[in-house]
Amino acid sequence: MAEILVAAGHREAKLVEFADTVILNTCSIREKAAQKLRSEVGRLAMRKREQPDLMIVVAGCLGQQEGEKLLKSAPEIDLVVGPDNIAALPALIADFELGGTARVLTEFDLDAPRFLASNPATGRTPPATYVTVMKGCDERCSFCIVPHTRGAERYRPSREIIDEISLLVASGVREVTLLGQTVNSYRDPNAELPRAPYTGESRWQHTSRIVAEADESEFPALLWAIVQHAPGLLRLRYTSPHPRHLTRALVEAHRGISILAKHLHLPVQSGNNAVLKRMIRRYTREEYVERTAALLDAVPDLVLSTDVIVGFPGETVEQFQDTLSLIDEREFVGVFAFKYSPRPFTPALKLGDDISEAEKSNRLAELFARHDPKRRSRLSSLVGSVQQVLIEGQKADGAYTGRTARNEIVHLAAKADITGKLVPVRIALAFKNSLAAETVDESLRVDARELPKLARTADRAKVEAVDDVTPSRDESAGATTRVQLPVL
Ligand code: 5AD
Repeated sequence: MAEILVAAGHREAKLVEFADTVILNTCSIREKAAQKLRSEVGRLAMRKREQPDLMIVVAGCLGQQEGEKLLKSAPEIDLVVGPDNIAALPALIADFELGGTARVLTEFDLDAPRFLASNPATGRTPPATYVTVMKGCDERCSFCIVPHTRGAERYRPSREIIDEISLLVASGVREVTLLGQTVNSYRDPNAELPRAPYTGESRWQHTSRIVAEADESEFPALLWAIVQHAPGLLRLRYTSPHPRHLTRALVEAHRGISILAKHLHLPVQSGNNAVLKRMIRRYTREEYVERTAALLDAVPDLVLSTDVIVGFPGETVEQFQDTLSLIDEREFVGVFAFKYSPRPFTPALKLGDDISEAEKSNRLAELFARHDPKRRSRLSSLVGSVQQVLIEGQKADGAYTGRTARNEIVHLAAKADITGKLVPVRIALAFKNSLAAETVDESLRVDARELPKLARTADRAKVEAVDDVTPSRDESAGATTRVQLPVL
């Protein structure tokens, strides 16, 4: 969004107070996001009384979901744009500035899907960046508003994806995360991908042959094509996959592609089959366990993280205990747990919302209490080890921040500019959600005693975390706006 606006001649304001156009990019996955938007718009509406030409734009999924209703409930809003209409923003803003009236543009580009490519020429592209490969969602998970706000699945031609990645690599990008709502259901609309290498006959024990073979996903083929055509790429990640499309071919891709991250975020949502069925997840606990076991067997140093919903309608205490036992069984490095939040236009609405807020909070607390010590002890166990860290950037205090292949965040100091480099480091300290390290290369090394100071400086800059989210959520989100920094 920023790249499109800058290319159209806009400038980014250093502080929101200096801006004459404010764009609120929104999420609608849980009710909390809607509350946040209301209070943010309220604040801006007050400012608009003093500054009548202040333009308020709502972008993203809440815009898509609410459309005209937003304008009715908050007449201070000037523009509402859906996720498929971002490219129209400069024209919409220009129209409005010329005296246009408030507008809502929330049309899906179903017939001619557009995928926004990043433009390395702007110099804004970080060493680790994102490339969208598909959008929309054909799943019908009963709790989820995404099919409504994002529309049907649309896939980007593999050639376009590979061209964008090649361009990014040529301009210095070293890590790419492939993005899509169910990223591993990807298929090439132009049917140009060679079949992915797939070893043999072995079937899933817990999935009938027909279902297993009906999976037409070409995501593994896309992964192989990317590594073949973009040899300078050092790391490849993807998010978020659906367990249903964790196929044998995808397991083989993980076994064979060395630059694939040793981390997979694979939302499970519940460990109980009856709940999974009511959620319309279309897999069982046994299938999830079998498929992740195959993946861990192929790549033993891979780690998993997951999403869980607690207090889904009708979830009994025993059913919740099944989720806890799955978390024990699978040893996730990150569990992002959410209280069930009824969303408009979702099938689960008709199931009611019978678990009290207090009970949802208790379950969330129990889950975190169970998982937190494991996360911490895992981070501590890395102290002393050598890790390859891809340096993503430098903070104002001079500390560099990067990630290991397994997605642990590492802070370190160095004598030379190491941004964009894959640097071997020795882990020196474990914080609550991240690590600090020193470079193995002595010529780059800065005294390790500096590290706690770095961490404290970082902590002072800590930005508030969302309260229904585990702290580590922010680490995997890779967001630049809300970063969880280490706490000593
Ligand atoms: N209530 C609570 N959590 C939800 N999620 C999606 N929809 C809901 C909802 N209605 C969670 C899921 C998903 C993550 C992105 O958000 O766990 O994986």
